[in-house]
Amino acid sequence: MQTVIEKLLEGEETQNLHKIEVAANILKEGGLVAFPTETVYGLGADALNPAAADRIYRAKGRPSDNPLIVHIYCMDDLQKIAAYIPAKAKRLADHFWPGPLTMIFKKRDNVPAETTGGLDTVAVRMPNHPLALALIEAAGGFIAAPSANTSGKPSPTLAEHVKEDMDGRIPMILDGGAVGIGIESTIVDFSEETPMVLRPGYITPDMMKEVIGEIRIDPGLAGEDLSVRPKAPGMKYKHYAPKAELILVNGAQEKVQQTINNLTKEAVESGRTVGVIGTDESCGCYHYGIVKSIGTRSDEDTIARHLYGILREFDEQDVDIIYSESFSTPRIGQAIMNRLLKAAGHQVIEV
Ligand code: TXA
Ligand code: MG
Repeated sequence: MQTVIEKLLEGEETQNLHKIEVAANILKEGGLVAFPTETVYGLGADALNPAAADRIYRAKGRPSDNPLIVHIYCMDDLQKIAAYIPAKAKRLADHFWPGPLTMIFKKRDNVPAETTGGLDTVAVRMPNHPLALALIEAAGGFIAAPSANTSGKPSPTLAEHVKEDMDGRIPMILDGGAVGIGIESTIVDFSEETPMVLRPGYITPDMMKEVIGEIRIDPGLAGEDLSVRPKAPGMKYKHYAPKAELILVNGAQEKVQQTINNLTKEAVESGRTVGVIGTDESCGCYHYGIVKSIGTRSDEDTIARHLYGILREFDEQDVDIIYSESFSTPRIGQAIMNRLLKAAGHQVIEV
């Protein structure tokens, strides 16, 4: 299959609309289209068509018990797929939709088991991206879309990343340039009494607490006790993995830099290709290996935005081992560390 990449350009509204129309027709016929959202690129299919949802699993090589998020473009459509919408969920939607927040509800019968990985619940999100919203509307309103990476690879934040993973596997990629946020949406489960965060993201528990009060965090998220399984099936798989071994170094900045310099010196001397993930502030302090800045500590959003891209760059440069600073900052730092720890298989050196 040939994969067509359509660039959507600012100021070219008529042409963009035409391209979105073509993409929507592919979706309506049960095909797959990758498209930008504000978090990461999604791999879309008609969420109410079982055969279409099935194609997503095959294109990604994704385990079939890992459910998909259904993307909608208007509030009225939520009740068409969710059987019951608690008042608190409605309040979060009013506050944060369109935006990087996914909520889980008991599903209605029209949502096929293929979309929900066999669960009786459905994950729903209204993305904050004009092209995504236009595409969802044109395609009928309900687009199932996981991140558009091969299962186990870092999520795509550029159309080029999607091409790396999906070239020849899907008919179309809509290229809307770099995404804004760079890590996947926050997931909150509303299918039980107290709302529970299943995946941290840009919308933090504190931001949600201000709107709805008490909110729990899935105990399986900590990842330290392997007997406590995370509730979101996707959070249990080894994920976001670069090809190289990734090790985080955590502690006071000066000690971290010293340790990384010692370890990278050793690695280089033993003939290994080594990478370092630092920040704009620290990169000048590293003396060995391929050093990359992930962003600036004065604006954590830049770190989220570059995280997956950096892991992919290191893959291309065939490094054997990557040492990274850690980011135990509040706010989005929690989501960044959740992804980094998973990419590192929880290997952390405390200094
Ligand atoms: O930002 C995002 O959410 C992106 C963009 C494309 O919207 N999408 C995304 O989808 O990250 P995906 O498939 O890569 O991650 C979906 C996560 C998985 O961990 C999955 O297990 C969980 O959501 N999930 C989906 N439906 C669920 C359900 N009914 N119950 C529990 N977890 C669910
Ligand atoms: Mg994903």
